[in-house]
Amino acid sequence: MSSPLPTAARLADLPAEPLITHEYERNRPAVLAALRERHGAVAPVDLLGQPVWLVLDHTEALRVLTDEAHWKKAPAHWRAYREGAVPRDWPLRFVVDSEMVTFFDDERHAAARAAIDAAIAPYQGDGAEAGRLRELITAHADQLISFLSAGGGGQGMADLCGQYARPLPLMVANHLLGLPDAEGDDVLMDVWRVLDAGPEAPMAVHRLLGGLRELVEEKRRHPGADIPSRLLAHAPDASTDEHALHLNMILVTTAESTGALLAASLVHALATGTLDEADPRELIERTAVANPPMQNLSLRFAAADTPLGGVTVAAGDPVMVSPAAAHACPHFTGSDDAPHLAFGAGPHACPARPLAETIVAIGIERVRARFGELRLALPPDQLPWRVTPLVTGLRSLPVRYDLTRRPAPEPAAAVEPLPAPPVRRSAFWRLLATLRGGR
Ligand code: HEM
Repeated sequence: MSSPLPTAARLADLPAEPLITHEYERNRPAVLAALRERHGAVAPVDLLGQPVWLVLDHTEALRVLTDEAHWKKAPAHWRAYREGAVPRDWPLRFVVDSEMVTFFDDERHAAARAAIDAAIAPYQGDGAEAGRLRELITAHADQLISFLSAGGGGQGMADLCGQYARPLPLMVANHLLGLPDAEGDDVLMDVWRVLDAGPEAPMAVHRLLGGLRELVEEKRRHPGADIPSRLLAHAPDASTDEHALHLNMILVTTAESTGALLAASLVHALATGTLDEADPRELIERTAVANPPMQNLSLRFAAADTPLGGVTVAAGDPVMVSPAAAHACPHFTGSDDAPHLAFGAGPHACPARPLAETIVAIGIERVRARFGELRLALPPDQLPWRVTPLVTGLRSLPVRYDLTRRPAPEPAAAVEPLPAPPVRRSAFWRLLATLRGGR
């Protein structure tokens, strides 16, 4: 291990090796272990062209996440950003510029966070709204399973990522946002395009934000029992733009991170043959430790020269906390003092952890109830993962299934089955039908 770097070493003056490489995509644990071996608790790395301190140690990661006096999120605290050294085309620039709640500090953050917490609260816990949501998640899960397995005589192949883990949270998000069905499908398609980050993504982001602004205006006129209306009730004076950005964050996180955790949990269960035995909540916990969907968290910036893991981070330098590295660190125990960081920690910790875990748990439970037999169609180490600087998820999860091996309960008894989806009218269901056709 190298000796501590000089006081307040300026990141820009240090040799930093690129983080996101083929090797990182192929074998992230080995790359992180090598960085820890060479640098200790924090390592200077090059994040797609920007020098960043990567926080590898669990104790130091928790310190950064919980100490908002020293570690800020607004990019105005980033020296390179202020000095114009972060080019407009830096791949993560649009994230940093996004003006979402995750980049607010102090009072501004507390106010936005209070509105978001209030808007999400009815869906978490034991209340009637949370109960209705659980029924809806169950009904959507059953609808997707019936759809993906239709026409195969009860046996066949499916992609449990594209045909199940990804659309399920999207459908839930649609309901949370109170989107009318027809528009809901368009929104789902745009979120899908944004998550794919292909050439259609920039237009999709633009359309999505426009649609969310219209939704906020509509809910100002006609409030309903949904997240936008509750955001407005809590913060009626906040601008339509601000509410639309909160909704965008909620929509994209619900879809991306929740889908990633559901798919990864199914892989863990199938790879270890424990789908039938594992308690979904324990399975989720283990998966969140081994494969946190957000393997790296968005940047934080030192408010002043601040000691961190043997170095002194200069005021204005960025740090990136890596839950993936922190979970592999000897200081991580999983206890209350050293919890896993898959949902963050401190003032910016995920406000929707119970909701996300409920979606994933029901998603696992319905797969277990409906499929008589389910096997991975590829060895676990050949499954295609999509690695981005912040989020990691499966690209696809090919399985062979057999619905007929056990008297599988059809749609859960307590839940009204949903009508067959309107494939011809709906771009979303047409897409799912294409995936079914491709097996
Ligand atoms: C398995 C699914 C999810 C995972 C793994 C996850 C993870 C995270 C993490 C790690 C953070 C903290 C980021 C940081 O400190 O830089 C976060 C923040 C956030 N998450 Fe989640 N999340 C999930 C689902 C959701 C859902 C379903 C929603 C909304 C319904 C949501 C809304 C948010 C919001 C609004 C923030 C920003 C909080 C703030 O800055 O105060 N997340 N999430």
